[in-house]
Amino acid sequence: MHSFRYVGRELCCEGVSLSALAKKHGTPLYVYSQGTLTGHYTGLDQALAPLEHLICFAMKSNSNLAVIRTLADLGAGFDTVSAGEIQRAVAGGGDPRKCVFAGVGKSEEEIAYALSQDIYCFNVESEAELRRISRVAVRRRRIAPVAVRVNPNVDAGTHAKITTGTYENKFGIAFEQVEGVYARAARLPNLRLRGLQMHIGSQLTDVEPFRLAVAKVAPLAARLNARYGFDFFSIGGGIGIVYRPALASADPAWWSTREGRAILTPQRYADTLVPLLKPLGLRILVEPGRFLSGNAGALVTRVEYIKKTGRKHFVIVDAAMNDLIRPAFYDSYHEIVPLTRRGGAVVSSDVVGPICESGDFFAKDRPLPRVAEGDHLALLSAGAYGSVMGSNYNSRPLAAEVLVHGRKSAVVRTRQPVEQIWAGEAPAPWQQRR
Ligand code: LLP
Repeated sequence: MHSFRYVGRELCCEGVSLSALAKKHGTPLYVYSQGTLTGHYTGLDQALAPLEHLICFAMKSNSNLAVIRTLADLGAGFDTVSAGEIQRAVAGGGDPRKCVFAGVGKSEEEIAYALSQDIYCFNVESEAELRRISRVAVRRRRIAPVAVRVNPNVDAGTHAKITTGTYENKFGIAFEQVEGVYARAARLPNLRLRGLQMHIGSQLTDVEPFRLAVAKVAPLAARLNARYGFDFFSIGGGIGIVYRPALASADPAWWSTREGRAILTPQRYADTLVPLLKPLGLRILVEPGRFLSGNAGALVTRVEYIKKTGRKHFVIVDAAMNDLIRPAFYDSYHEIVPLTRRGGAVVSSDVVGPICESGDFFAKDRPLPRVAEGDHLALLSAGAYGSVMGSNYNSRPLAAEVLVHGRKSAVVRTRQPVEQIWAGEAPAPWQQRR
C-alpha cells in the first residue's frame, strides 16, 4: 500500500502534486506520505492484536523527526542503534521508555546515556558487552534492563549484505551458547534480565524464514522466561516490501501479490507467527523499519541531460548515489516514473547521477518513457534507507525532505546549505594566510 498515484497525468502523493513540490522546493527532494506511514503502522498493529505487543520502529530506516513524530503519536516505540538515535527519538517526541538499543559496538558513554534515559531494554550482542553494561550500571547506581540477541543460524534468504541471522554474521550470540550466557549474566550486578531478542535479516519477502526462526527460538524463550521471569520476546524486523512495480496499483488486493506470487503481508506474517508466539504469554516486540517507511517515500529528481552513446541512452539526473545509495550498494531496484505522464515511446535507459563513479546509477537498461531535459522523475519506495544513508560525497548538499498529509505539505528538512558541508573544517594553524 502506498499513496503515490497518478491523478490524470500528474503523479501525486496523497492530495499533492509532486511537480508542484519539485517546483517549489527544488530537487533532489524526498517526499513522504504521512498516510502511508500511518496505514502501514495500523495494518501491522491490527494484525498483531491477538498478542500483547509493541511496535518499535527501526528508525535507522528513516529518522526524520516528522516521521518519528508520526509514529510516536500512534504509540510506537523505537529500535535504536546509537546514543544519537535515542536522542533523535526523544527530539521527535518518542518515549525513551519505549526504546530498545541494539548494536554490536555500544560505547561506555552510549550505555551511560541510555541508562540516564531509562530505556526499555539493551539488546546485547556479546558477553563482553553484558559485563560492560553491568559495570556502567553499578557506577551509575542504576539497574540496566537487558535482553540477549540470539543468533538462530537461520538463513533469511535475502541479500548477503542484509542477512544477519547466520553464524557468518557479526550479530548476536550463537543459539547454543545463549543459556550459558544468561546463567552468567544472572550473576552480574545491576542487570535485569528482561527478555530475549532476535533479528534475522532485512527485506524478507517470504514468511518461511521467520517461521523457522521463531519456531526454533520460542522454546528457548519459554525456558529462559521460566527461569528468569521475562517481560518480552522481540522477533526483530525484516518484513519485506514490494519494490517492483509499486505503482501498478494502490489496491491492497494487488499489493499482496507480485507477479502472481503471494508476498508478505502483515496478516500473513501474523497468521503464521501468532500461534507460535501466543503460548509464551510474553509481550512481543517487533522492529520493522522498511515495512513502515519504505513505500512511504519517493525521491524526486530532475533530468539534467540526455546523452546517447553508441550503445546506451543515458538519462542524467540531478540526484545521485549520495542521495540514494541502494542501487549502487545492493543492486536494488527502485521503480522510476515520470511526474507527468505523456505516453509515447519507451526507451531502454540508464538513469545515472552526476557523481564521478560508474556505480552512480539508479537503473540500467530500464524501459522508460522517453524524457527530456527539465522533466522530472520519481524514484519510488525510497522512504527506507534512502536519505538516512545520504552523504556529502562530491560536496553535494543533503536533499530537502517534505512530509505530505492529505492536501497539506511541509518541509521537514531544509536543503543543506553548501557551506554547512565544511562547517567544522579549517586549514591547520600553520597554513594561515596573512
Ligand atoms: N532490527 C534490527 C536489529 C536491525 O538490525 C534492523 C535492520 C531492523 C530491525 C530493521 O530491519 P527492516 O525491518 O528495515 O528490514 N540498508 C539496508 C538495510 C539494512 C538493515 C539493517 N538492520 C537496505 O537498504 O536494504
